Amino acid sequence: MLAATQTYAPSEDFVRRAHVQGIEARRVLYEKAAEHPEEFWAEVAEREISWFQKWSHVFEWDPPFAKWFVGAKTNAAYNCLDRHLATHRKNKVAILWEGEPGDQRLLSYQELHRLVCRFANVLKGRGLKAGDKAIIYMPMVPELPVAMLACARIGVTHSVVFGGFSAEALKARIQDLGATVVITADGGWRRGKEIRLKDAADEALTECPTVRDVIVLQRTGSAVNMTPGRDHWWHELDQNASEDCPAEPLDSEHPLFVLYTSGTTGKPKGILHTTGGYLTMVTATMKWVFDLRDEDTYWCTADIGWVTGHSYIVYGPLSAGATTVMYEGAPDYPAFDRWWRIVEKYRVNIFYTSPTAIRALIRQGDQWPNAHDLSSLRLLGSVGEPINPAAWEWYYRVIGKERCPIVDTWWQTETGAILISPMPGAVPLKPGSATLPLPGVIPDIVDLTGKPVADGQEGFLVIRRPWPSMLRTIWGDPQRYKEQYWSRVPGVYFTGDAARRDADGYYWILGRVDDVMNVSGHRLSTMEVESALVRHPAVAEAAVVGRPDEITGQAVCAFVTLKKGDWNHRDLAEELRKWVAHEIGSFAKPAEIRFTDALPKTRSGKIMRRLLRELVTSQTVTGDTTTLEDMGVITRLAAQQEED
Ligand code: WT7
Repeated sequence: MLAATQTYAPSEDFVRRAHVQGIEARRVLYEKAAEHPEEFWAEVAEREISWFQKWSHVFEWDPPFAKWFVGAKTNAAYNCLDRHLATHRKNKVAILWEGEPGDQRLLSYQELHRLVCRFANVLKGRGLKAGDKAIIYMPMVPELPVAMLACARIGVTHSVVFGGFSAEALKARIQDLGATVVITADGGWRRGKEIRLKDAADEALTECPTVRDVIVLQRTGSAVNMTPGRDHWWHELDQNASEDCPAEPLDSEHPLFVLYTSGTTGKPKGILHTTGGYLTMVTATMKWVFDLRDEDTYWCTADIGWVTGHSYIVYGPLSAGATTVMYEGAPDYPAFDRWWRIVEKYRVNIFYTSPTAIRALIRQGDQWPNAHDLSSLRLLGSVGEPINPAAWEWYYRVIGKERCPIVDTWWQTETGAILISPMPGAVPLKPGSATLPLPGVIPDIVDLTGKPVADGQEGFLVIRRPWPSMLRTIWGDPQRYKEQYWSRVPGVYFTGDAARRDADGYYWILGRVDDVMNVSGHRLSTMEVESALVRHPAVAEAAVVGRPDEITGQAVCAFVTLKKGDWNHRDLAEELRKWVAHEIGSFAKPAEIRFTDALPKTRSGKIMRRLLRELVTSQTVTGDTTTLEDMGVITRLAAQQEED
């Protein structure tokens, strides 16, 4: 499926100006990091990050718990803001923002610093201090990074909840984190409609006793309920806030943020990232992978509610002193050329997006990008799922005009930063491959016993050695952290992805091996959707699998058995889709719901999702069915499929 036909070497011109020039330069860097990891990372950390106090030692490993830059003190907001103010970047645009309605804001480093200091003082005024926890539930407006950086400045650990999540999902995250403050907005704009965030927050907050304060940004200006004593307008608190707020020297291992992601159970995992190691790697990868130069205008189209936005809209770019573009709304609003309009208008040089977005844009035709001057682009990026060679070629030809290398970046919420990716001035590209590991990253492909498989063979992708931006634990559940990541294959980090390595050492990621789906580059657990479905009064049982989808990569397909009753399947399917949107968020809605009288199970009662996956993928079941309790179930499901 992912066979490369051609390789693409960087142009001489690109190589000459790149941070890492040529495959030999990469090899030297890689080998140095492999042979002397502590020395290597110490050098990177020293070069890329400003520290208030140096570490006593680089690395501490009490498997599977790692500490990096032990004893050192730093501050993420200081690195993203203050240190630039003494340079030519003082008045450089830090955040170049466009709202969906077309409003626009350009915040210089100096101005952003001012806003962050003020808001940090607002938080202090509410009694918040280092060690406290804040939930941020906001649209894609500049105040979202302001809130994150204000938290970071005073040591408050933030957890950003994607604005597409429902009240139920928000509630679970507030409770799990134990947040005392929620920072939100009246709403945000998406396809011309208001996403009413404050309403959802109100619904969530009815069962969140730890929350003392809710700070509400006015974005859309629509009417919202304000609970006296608990709710405060951002602009009112901000009015008299002082602009003087020194960044607090925090321990290198101070918890910077928790970001919830789907695991293999119904309960999301709070992935914990800390300060020094995370900052070191997101900053270094801005140069290694995005080849960032001071004069670049850089745009990552992700939402800050996902890890891509944390690392590559906020912390990485700002720490590296970039101009980072932020766009509030949908790519197809008001028309399919919105992104290309933005590229043309702001002369974007580096553009980072997802395969699912690329495929959706391909479908609309080349006339949309072709109507715009995209000649400012010099580098393209892809993230979230394997990019199929056809989409790669289109991206390369129609968007990059065969001039721009494409960095296919493999990483995860857990890895914090990109781990496998081309260095664009060094590594010849093969469409569909994330190519080679970055310096300091030692991946391998193994079987379940941990034995490396031969080149060309499929196996589990693992990382052999801890890296600085690695997750530190699952919030409140170190046991689950141990089990999920360090026990499946003993002694190494288990990614949950299948992959193979070719004769050139290139990595080809094949997708998840666990019960995690990847829908439009968003991670979703089958169990999470199943638990949502069975909470509905009509549903007896549910089994959810991902089925291949041309645009979204995978689509949610639910098999549902019903309780006794007289159900109208069509109405009920619609109701269940709405139900899932309410329980999790719209993006989790099943594309397909199939009602059935029974689910395929083993004799011990375990649902055999593997068979359902096969059924929706290849329309038949040929795999091992010997443990299936009632073969008739599969025969009936297959027959039902043919009728459809
Ligand atoms: C999973 C992580 C990390 C940012 C976005 C997703 C898949 C990610 C690639 C890529 C093939 C990829 C993997 C991974 N994935 N990037 N370039 N090629 N697969 O973060 O939600 O934590 O999901 O996304 O399956 O395990 P996430």
